Amino acid sequence: MGRILSVAEAIDARHSVRVYKDFPIPEEIRKQLDDFTENCNKEGNLHIFIRYNDADGFDSRLAHYGSFRNVKNYIVLAGIKQDDFDIRCGYYGEKIALYAQQLGLNTCWAALTFNKKLVKKLIPDGETLCMVIALGYGETAGIPHKSKKYSEVVSIADSQPEWFQEGVEAALKAPTAMNQQKFQFVCFNEKVVARIKGIGSFTKVDLGIVAYHFEAVSGHKVGFV
Ligand SMILES: Cc1cc2nc3c(=O)[nH]c(=O)nc-3n(C[C@H](O)[C@H](O)[C@H](O)COP(=O)(O)O)c2cc1C
Repeated sequence: MGRILSVAEAIDARHSVRVYKDFPIPEEIRKQLDDFTENCNKEGNLHIFIRYNDADGFDSRLAHYGSFRNVKNYIVLAGIKQDDFDIRCGYYGEKIALYAQQLGLNTCWAALTFNKKLVKKLIPDGETLCMVIALGYGETAGIPHKSKKYSEVVSIADSQPEWFQEGVEAALKAPTAMNQQKFQFVCFNEKVVARIKGIGSFTKVDLGIVAYHFEAVSGHKVGFV
């Protein structure tokens, strides 16, 4: 294996991958992913876990319809549903997905096209399943999505600090449900806020995802309104 990618490089390299090779995830990589996930759970007060060598989660007509093939591993985003649960699932789910990319793996978020009935059975009583992320060695690396422009996702486009522009560009590379990109970043007195713009599905999860991309590249925290 080559050198590990930086988070910024992982953001550039990441695209949704829905078809996977049979190659299993080696034990040492699994250990790194599990340790990383445990830290995210502590930080985000969540119960995220990874299922390895379990084809059942994506064994459904819906998953095939959604063009998933040979998904043998997946990340389950769950926890006690309180406060900003969906935003936190987005934020930490993407943090783990990008770490997986750094380790040479591929991913694809799935809110709908997986075997929800079966995955729900893995969740302890009192907890809620948010969604899952397919994980593995992709048949391809995927392709870049069609993206909105910088000026379409910021409230004031002119004379913003460079780090803000870089953060927004990183957010534009993030996955969003149906590639809807219904978010906006606002920068005022060096403080950054992200908000949902328009109506869509899973926009809160998307907001957490794009906020993580922004923070990872700009080094500046994002607040939510
Ligand atoms: C919250 C969320 C839910 C998604 N749900 C599904 C899904 O159910 N099925 C699917 O095939 N892709 C799903 N996707 C993947 C998106 O279609 C994909 O991220 C988007 O088209 C952008 O492409 P990219 O990830 O290659 O950049 C989802 C993505 C996100 C962020």
